[in-house]
Amino acid sequence: MNVLILGATSPIAQAVAHEYASHKHDIFVACRKQERADEIASDLVLRHDVRALGAAFDATNLDAHADFIAHVEEEFGPIDVALVAFGDMGQQEESQQDISAARKIIDVNYTGAVSLCEAIAEHMLTRKSGSILGISSVAGDRGRQSNYIYGSAKGAFTLYLQGLRNRCFPNGVHVLTAKLGFVDTRMTEGLDTKIPIASPEQVGRALYNAQQGKKDVLYYPRFWAGIMGVIKAIPEGLFKRLKL
Ligand SMILES: NC(=O)c1ccc[n+]([C@@H]2O[C@H](COP(=O)([O-])OP(=O)(O)OC[C@H]3O[C@@H](n4cnc5c(N)ncnc54)[C@H](OP(=O)(O)O)[C@@H]3O)[C@@H](O)[C@H]2O)c1
Repeated sequence: MNVLILGATSPIAQAVAHEYASHKHDIFVACRKQERADEIASDLVLRHDVRALGAAFDATNLDAHADFIAHVEEEFGPIDVALVAFGDMGQQEESQQDISAARKIIDVNYTGAVSLCEAIAEHMLTRKSGSILGISSVAGDRGRQSNYIYGSAKGAFTLYLQGLRNRCFPNGVHVLTAKLGFVDTRMTEGLDTKIPIASPEQVGRALYNAQQGKKDVLYYPRFWAGIMGVIKAIPEGLFKRLKL
């Protein structure tokens, strides 16, 4: 299989790439800097003896996305699995005061993700096969004062993936929504919580297994499904009074 990884400098994305490479699948990694993409691709070749290529892309450069995906298919071959892993949590306080900071969070997590998923889906739908794995967040399940700009962008991405799945399913294309809880990356650096934090490697395995099993939605770690079930059940009249 040919696996495309978008946002390859993320530890989660790299864990997914290594998981697929360990099963002898070829990998195309893309991130903002060409040198980093080349380094990550070389590491995959060295450790797993697979074909791995790399290229640069920017999630906010919407006009370039269709050509970029066409270029990947030309150079690498038909994309069988695409992981949309890039994201930007930004700073909630900054984005309340500066709309351009809020817009960046929305553009990376939602607009850019949609633009790339649409470009990938076009190719997969023509072939009537493929899997799109979108990384969303439990933060998208309910709006909270501490991160509602990021949360709303992820929530919109979750809804988008649901619609894309509905469109793609009859045409043989699989769409997975991964709603992640806390994972040990730079996004959670310094986080003080009693809730267990997953390793990127655990997430990599879980995503691989969910794709192989053609799952629709994956909460990972799985206990987040229970936590979010409770959080979503709190009536709005009470929820708005909580400091979350
Ligand atoms: N860690 C968690 O607890 C957690 C929880 C829920 C969901 N997630 C999601 O998991 C995914 C991976 O995040 P992570 O935790 O591994 O954090 P991370 O290390 O900060 O990774 C974020 C990735 O997004 C890329 N990125 C940011 N802006 C971009 C742009 N304009 N164009 C292209 N790439 C861009 C970054 O690239 P650069 O290296 O170039 O900056 C990096 O590869 C994200 O979608 C995140 O929202 C994470």
